[in-house]
Amino acid sequence: MILLSIETTCDETAAAVLDDQLRVLGEVVASQDQLHERFRGVVPEVAARAHLERILPVLDEALTRAGVTLSQIDAVAVANTPGLAGSLLVGVVAAKTLALALGIPLLGINHIHGHIYACRVASQRDIFPCVGLVVSGGHSNLFACHSAAQFELLGATVDDAAGEAFDKVATMLGLPFPGGPALAQLAQTGNPEAFRFPRAFLNDPNRLQFSFSGLKTAVRYQLVGPGKCSFQDLAIPERLRADIAASFQEAVVDCLVAKSQQALELTGLQRLCVGGGVAANLRLRERLEQASAQRGFELLMAPRKLCTDNAVLGAIAMERLRLGQTDGLDLAIRPGLER
Ligand code: KG4
Ligand code: ZN
Repeated sequence: MILLSIETTCDETAAAVLDDQLRVLGEVVASQDQLHERFRGVVPEVAARAHLERILPVLDEALTRAGVTLSQIDAVAVANTPGLAGSLLVGVVAAKTLALALGIPLLGINHIHGHIYACRVASQRDIFPCVGLVVSGGHSNLFACHSAAQFELLGATVDDAAGEAFDKVATMLGLPFPGGPALAQLAQTGNPEAFRFPRAFLNDPNRLQFSFSGLKTAVRYQLVGPGKCSFQDLAIPERLRADIAASFQEAVVDCLVAKSQQALELTGLQRLCVGGGVAANLRLRERLEQASAQRGFELLMAPRKLCTDNAVLGAIAMERLRLGQTDGLDLAIRPGLER
């Protein structure tokens, strides 16, 4: 059984070919970072047009790397939720076209669930049941993951996603887009205790929610003070920039670690699986490993390369394929978060 997986939810055009042992035979991720850099954020229309230009070469390259021809593909999976509408459409139309032309099953997958499933692909062992933490540019979610087909949302962010906060604070600090990796690098040279930024809901175990917008505002006030709004030409001393980056990162990590532990306690589950772009953050990985050693829960983190968007996430479709849970050609895009 060979699965072709397509991912175009945001600004990565990606395709992967996997076998039924969840081995990655070939994979391509075409990033659009350069296109969006000057806007310091993803511009949906620019993203959709770039997907359109790239989808066919990306599919060709993934098949070539896998050493597989289209006639050998048994099923096609595509992330149809959540994401940017125009971006999702490109992947979904490509997948439907292949399913129709080749006469093979089509499966729509939830991209957020796929981020957790990256842990399954990498570890090559069953991960269910587990608590799933997905921290990306658009989402910060905690799930009770009962099976590949049953994800129960435990909590989410009430405002910004963790990655979004990283990106916006990075902009304040004059760092390049995407801000997360650049901010994390700067934080390595700073003092995480220099500033005590807010940690929303930290000690409330009954509230499995995140909020990063107040934290973002606290950083802003630290930099420019209330009332002023321009970060342009702000001459921030290098030491201060590094200290702010480290203190901000520590506040985000504190919240992510604490809420994950609270979710484990609340559900009684013993395993935590972590994915999404922010899961590539080394400080978060280090703190989660410490928590796992101290508290005795099992920790599976997606390898850093599989944290940011990619099509290997679509491997989750393989389990649904085995259960015969395929989709029709009326498969719709669902830009909003699916629970
Ligand atoms: O999962 P992803 O590739 O896309 C979405 O589904 O949103 O996540 C992208 C996000 C961006 O906000 C990026 O800044 C953040 O992940 N990110 C990081 C790191 N690497 C990527 N944030 C913190 N530290 C990192 N090392
Ligand atoms: Zn993602």
